[in-house]
Amino acid sequence: MPNPVTPLTRHIGAEISGVSGHELVDRRAADDCLATLEQYGVVVYREVGITDEDLVAFSRLLGEVAVVPTGEHTYPEIQTITLDPSKTNALLASYRQGNFQWHIDGATQDVPQKGTLLTAREVDDAGGDTEFASTYAAYAALPDDDKAELETLQVLHSFAAAQLLANPDASDEERASWDRVPTQVHPLVWTHRNGRKSLLLGATAAEVVGWPAEKGRSLLDRLLEWSTQPEFVLRHHWRRGDLVVWDNTGMLHRALPFEPTSLRLMHRTTLVGEEAVA
Ligand code: SIN
Repeated sequence: MPNPVTPLTRHIGAEISGVSGHELVDRRAADDCLATLEQYGVVVYREVGITDEDLVAFSRLLGEVAVVPTGEHTYPEIQTITLDPSKTNALLASYRQGNFQWHIDGATQDVPQKGTLLTAREVDDAGGDTEFASTYAAYAALPDDDKAELETLQVLHSFAAAQLLANPDASDEERASWDRVPTQVHPLVWTHRNGRKSLLLGATAAEVVGWPAEKGRSLLDRLLEWSTQPEFVLRHHWRRGDLVVWDNTGMLHRALPFEPTSLRLMHRTTLVGEEAVA
């Protein structure tokens, strides 16, 4: 018998219940997760208490798992998400302020990551919920004329655009270092291999190629506002031991702000991208 799947909102998110963290390390449980992910974009497992070893093993059943160059954990695939410099390092803590902005991971690369697994090791009620917005649903709900125009547009994505939103007071030296990170141009509308379409937006979206800067900025801001309206958003309030998996290719996500003193500590793995943006 498959484990019960309960939709969480009309357009985004479903909870799979009746399975423990260790039971997820199983081909059938992984296939259930992938199928639910395809349909709902975000899969929530409440209080499964998955160990780091099982998190890596389950991630491997879902796809190829990225190795983290920052070496933050004894498992090279695990990132530790915290703002506390004593639990991470000052540079990473500052970089993670960027997680407060709506974003899609890897939008500055030619093949954005396929998905992400995030589990709560420690929680803190003062902030730190995570929100997800379905850009499949947002695209589908647009008028046909808008869809036709958006399909002709290309967007330049840059690390600098995302960092500037998070750290507007950065020094010239910091800005220069962001500018050294290569940029990437992608179609605004991503037509996936399965025929579904989503919008590729978020903090990295810097300009519409060939448009005057202000006109492009205004379109990108308008589309982000459209895509993150409550109808397309799932807000997750974390309990210790929760595991959430999302389809990074069609879900924007952001953490709601929390302080560096927050107890909040997340362990995260990332699935390597399988599909170039087309
Ligand atoms: C992330 O943006 O990858 C992390 C989100 C979160 O900490 O809620």
